[in-house]
Amino acid sequence: MDTDKTPLSAEDLWSCITFFRPTRPVLVTTRNRDGTVHVAPFAWCAPISAMPPMVSLALLTTPRRQHSLVNIEREKQFVVNLPGHDLSADLVRASYRYPAGVYKRGILGFEYSPSQRLDVLSIKRCRAFLECRLNASYLTGDHTLLVADVVAASYAPERYQEGFIPDVEAYPPCLHLGQISSPEGQIHSFMVDGQVEALDAPFNLPCPMPGPGASAKTAAPPDVGGERNQWKANAAVFATGFACPDGPCSNGGQGDLFVVDWAVGTVRRVTPEGEVTDFADTGGMPAGACLGADGHLAVCGTGRKAVLDVSPEGAVTVTADGHQGNPFLGPNGCAFDAKGNFYFSDADGFHPVDPSGRVYLLRPDGTTEIFAEGLAFPTKLCISADGQCLYLAETFASRIHRFTLDERGHARSQEIFADLCGGIGPVGLTLDVEGNLYAAHFGKGVVAVLDPAGSLLAELPTGGLLPTNLAFWNGSLYVTELEAGCVMCLDVDRCGGKGPVADSVWDLK
Ligand SMILES: Cc1cc2nc3c(=O)[nH]c(=O)nc-3n(C[C@H](O)[C@H](O)[C@H](O)COP(=O)(O)O)c2cc1C
Repeated sequence: MDTDKTPLSAEDLWSCITFFRPTRPVLVTTRNRDGTVHVAPFAWCAPISAMPPMVSLALLTTPRRQHSLVNIEREKQFVVNLPGHDLSADLVRASYRYPAGVYKRGILGFEYSPSQRLDVLSIKRCRAFLECRLNASYLTGDHTLLVADVVAASYAPERYQEGFIPDVEAYPPCLHLGQISSPEGQIHSFMVDGQVEALDAPFNLPCPMPGPGASAKTAAPPDVGGERNQWKANAAVFATGFACPDGPCSNGGQGDLFVVDWAVGTVRRVTPEGEVTDFADTGGMPAGACLGADGHLAVCGTGRKAVLDVSPEGAVTVTADGHQGNPFLGPNGCAFDAKGNFYFSDADGFHPVDPSGRVYLLRPDGTTEIFAEGLAFPTKLCISADGQCLYLAETFASRIHRFTLDERGHARSQEIFADLCGGIGPVGLTLDVEGNLYAAHFGKGVVAVLDPAGSLLAELPTGGLLPTNLAFWNGSLYVTELEAGCVMCLDVDRCGGKGPVADSVWDLK
């Protein structure tokens, strides 16, 4: 019987790629800038030559460069791990993007083993492993087509019958049919034993932490149309070409903007015209930065597990790498106070829901003290202009802490300033001159604006679901965005009045 043919309209033509479903996604392992393993699933992977054996892999390049692409172009090597259906749930979770400082290895259930010829780990329990060295790459539309030589391969013999025919009855293959988004995450469909199986994969990590303190305020959704919600913001792409942008900061809200790229390892300089150039190579994976009064950048290097100093000429040195003989876990976010005290969070990116995170206080004389501890993945922080309060995002607990500070810069008191609803949680924080706090709400695609009492004033859309950090610069709010790998400019308008202005030079992080 003939099948009907319904043509795709010209604007829907891009959907033709979905006709390749079911796909057979692979898990690609690569080596991060700091030597750790990185993993992500990709369906567009195919053999392209038998003798010699070669494969191709197509990775998204525009609007953002995949973290795996950055790793492969730098290291020239990767492993194609062919999973069975049993690894589907972790495969989906490996496709999610997490804030800078989170290593997927720590939150996925995979186990790893060494490869034969490469410095890249393979994933145990897969049915076959192809060790690949990059041979060539081509830009193809919005993807980069990587062409690689297979330099070694291995397989799990129990998963194959004679002639390398997969034993699909004992070990069903991973066959992906597609996905739809839900408010909490994504629902992926797989085909197994001739049936469709739906797999609900929430975005957030289950956080076991009970909330310390009873005064938590829940930042309920704003009263749209009500008097409170008189904020508007136009989001426009300002600078592009990043993989994992974070830590925007400038000198007093003027001059150039500095942005770190976690996957690449660099600090990049953005001019007011939006031109992006490399400024410094940190040699690791920088998660946050702020500018000191001397014009030097302080950079939180999660990969090097150190706080770094970057001179105005771009020279990188280690400022501190541990406390009382113990190495840091992974410095993540930072701020100076007016006296030159430097506060930074230290979080274990391999165990982001463990309450092992701390905030340290590094004095101008080089001594380091513990400022706060017992936190589950503390990320970014900011200090009010009067030096009275320090705000801290505890990202996976989806809340913001407020500490009041004494003259020595120690915490006089601690309270939960706000719990945020939806998405994953707050990451970057900054303050305006009225004491309103702006939080980049990762996973919700908004900047949450909270008044000094912690009540939600507005949620300003950022143009992408994954805002990571923010800073006032040249009179506007600039937001680093992980979904599109860009810096967005938010023109904020309060009921026709003037937009907010930054709190102080010390908070323009
Ligand atoms: C089943 C499946 C197949 C995918 N195939 C591709 C692909 O072929 N190319 C691609 O660029 N992204 C693909 N993705 C999306 C990436 O996995 C996703 O963007 C991920 O965040 C990239 O990770 P990385 O930035 O850590 O490298 C796929 C995702 C899923 C769930």
